[in-house]
Amino acid sequence: MSPETRRSVIPPATETIQTKPFPIRGERANYVNSPHVIAMVGLPARGKTYISKKLSRYLNWIGINTRAVFNLGEYRRHATTAYKSHEFFRPDNREAMAIRTQCCLDALQDVCSWLECGGEVAVFDATNSTMDRRRLIQDIVVNKMGFKLFFVESVCDDPKIVEQNIMEVKVNSPDYKNMNMEAALNDFLLRIEHYKEKYEPLDETQESDLSFMKIYNTGEKVVVHKHEGHIQSRIVYYLMNIHITPRTIYLTRHGESEQNVQGRIGGDSNLSLRGHSYAAALSNFIAQQDIAGLRVWTSWLKRTIQTVEAIPAPQERWKALNEIDAGICEEMTYEEIQERFPEDFAARDQSKFTYRYPRGESYEDLVARLEPVIMELERQGNVLVVSHQAVLRCLLAYFMDKSADELPYLQVPLHTVIKLTPVAYGCRVEHIKLPVDAVDTHRPKPKEKYSINNSILKWLIIFLGKNAGPHVQKMLA
Ligand code: SIN
Repeated sequence: MSPETRRSVIPPATETIQTKPFPIRGERANYVNSPHVIAMVGLPARGKTYISKKLSRYLNWIGINTRAVFNLGEYRRHATTAYKSHEFFRPDNREAMAIRTQCCLDALQDVCSWLECGGEVAVFDATNSTMDRRRLIQDIVVNKMGFKLFFVESVCDDPKIVEQNIMEVKVNSPDYKNMNMEAALNDFLLRIEHYKEKYEPLDETQESDLSFMKIYNTGEKVVVHKHEGHIQSRIVYYLMNIHITPRTIYLTRHGESEQNVQGRIGGDSNLSLRGHSYAAALSNFIAQQDIAGLRVWTSWLKRTIQTVEAIPAPQERWKALNEIDAGICEEMTYEEIQERFPEDFAARDQSKFTYRYPRGESYEDLVARLEPVIMELERQGNVLVVSHQAVLRCLLAYFMDKSADELPYLQVPLHTVIKLTPVAYGCRVEHIKLPVDAVDTHRPKPKEKYSINNSILKWLIIFLGKNAGPHVQKMLA
């Protein structure tokens, strides 16, 4: 699709908006009108891949179709096995430079094709460390394709952070598969020196027309230049809040509640006896972990507050951590909902993420409600979050990079602590079940195969009915 066609097709015309009822059940609310390219800038080992992956995870979580697989190092490894040492990156190595430029063009081509096929934000993870390279990107992305472009530069002059980055991720790169760690570290440091010879940081004067942000020493200082629109503002806001200091996040549901025992959803009941035992077990568990500077967050509902009563740490109550609002279905059992509102029950199974309980919320609404919680969690050190099944599914989906389809079915059992530890580009997830029994409140995804086969069957019957001869038509009737 050409940029002109895309511009004329994607934003709905006035007539089409007016003929659609709003809100439309089952449709996403978050759309990006102009596709965006986020192009990283910075010397090697400045956390560009970390930022790319994390940003992409966040944007996907808030409902923006984002891809961060456009990593130039991978294109280069795919194009050539010529990498033997840092010499490959010498600025006077003309043969290698030609390969590197071609890889950049190939990656940009893929970025643009993906955006043309419905992608919304593409993250181009490369050094893009010269003005010439950035002009080339601008020519293709903005002038030729009509997309929006935002550069994100990571500047880091702290040798400790750089070395830590190299040791955590770079020495394990396929470039160094036959090299010992020390040799790999030295080679990578020399590679950085070659880049430094030509490195031109983003410049407000000479590149005054570009939109960009610069992040210094993993967030110590941030500079934003000519950012354009909502998506870029959200990116700036998010990247201003992340940090790389090691910490652990603990997630758990409240102890079993009286309404859990009755199989009722929502409400604001007290803990059951087993729920109180879990509160005691959780308090012991947390004491054993001996967590420096721990903060405890709960919802406003009694069952989470009762669960942390015995934990001696500063506590905060977040209304945003309250359980999904089930509207007219609050405090009912699933059987009662199915009996009284069979259509709603079936609609929820069809599209659990976007289904909104009448006068209540959907998972999609919940994600929007939880954005400030995620933002604040990103800023914090060690935190224990005590909340509810649907809420924790949303938070877990963010940390585990799970899709909107998977999110509403994530397993978050009662009486289990989920320990999240940041590692390299992701998060280690451990489920620690404490030894107190509880009811199982997980309702698995209904088997899809059956309904797909069923609809294929229906379609076949209609098709055959229309096209078959009188003999078959009689049989089908
Ligand atoms: C690489 O080839 O490893 C990185 C290329 C670049 O972004 O400069």
